[in-house]
Amino acid sequence: MVKINIGGLEFKNPVMTASGTFASGKEYSEFVDLNKLGAVVCKTVTLNQRDGNKPPRIADMPSAMLNSIGLENKGLEYFIENTLPFLKNFDTRTVASIAGNNVEDYTTLAKRLNECKEVHAIEVNMSCPNVVHGQNKGLFSQDEKTTFEIMSAVRKNTNKPIFGKISPMVADITVIAKAIERAGGDAVALINTIPAMGVDLKTRRPLLGNITGGLSGPAVKPVALKLVWDVYKAVKIPVIGMGGIMCAQDALEFILCGATAVQVGTGNFVNPKLTEETALGIEKYFKENNLSGVDDLKGKLNI
Ligand code: DOR
Repeated sequence: MVKINIGGLEFKNPVMTASGTFASGKEYSEFVDLNKLGAVVCKTVTLNQRDGNKPPRIADMPSAMLNSIGLENKGLEYFIENTLPFLKNFDTRTVASIAGNNVEDYTTLAKRLNECKEVHAIEVNMSCPNVVHGQNKGLFSQDEKTTFEIMSAVRKNTNKPIFGKISPMVADITVIAKAIERAGGDAVALINTIPAMGVDLKTRRPLLGNITGGLSGPAVKPVALKLVWDVYKAVKIPVIGMGGIMCAQDALEFILCGATAVQVGTGNFVNPKLTEETALGIEKYFKENNLSGVDDLKGKLNI
């Protein structure tokens, strides 16, 4: 088993589901043995219920997917009462993903989830491209100070490991990653989807009801690898890499670029067994290459 450790918490392997694509795990549990995964990262939860954006909210593109879900979820209390009890039945880590409209929301979410023993870690989503935040309309993780404030607030209100999930859309991603580290974050998770849009020439309409959305899937993998590599060199805390993982080889490339763990998102829609297969494939590669742990491969690019 290729065990990893983030913020003092052990994960049985480096493969996690990416937030949003796996819901609570229930939908996938008929395809995937959740016990074989390092962690299930739940769909981002907000304080109150959100209905999400106008449909259509997903569009298929060559080698990519566009989404504009808009953080649809039933709110924090529903999550605690209905989602968490299901995941308690599995021998995997449960990571709650949270998003708020301001620092106070993140504080409340962190405080409440800190009381839930079923939650092993918290991913702080500061980078959803499908919602409008604050006055400057930017993503929280595009601003160093806001990133620091949110992560510090969450840090003060939980003793569970916390990951900061960030957007690729910044001038220098290392500045944001360092803000997460300074605030006491235990890992940097990247990349969230890339703001994008698609149009249909026949109807002259945008593909999404929200007009714009976030791009994910194989097309974004080279962007994600580059940013993971940049962040890996800039901070000492672990990096959780994601963006276009479609097989174990892709995941191993992320580890070579410095990731301690990986998350699988869009690929689940193409192959519902992908997370489990990726975990198995990583294990096989480590065995075949006599690697004893993730540190034997992490960041070890031949350059
Ligand atoms: O692409 C994304 N879509 N990233 C997020 O963080 C949330 C999600 C949504 O709900 O729109």
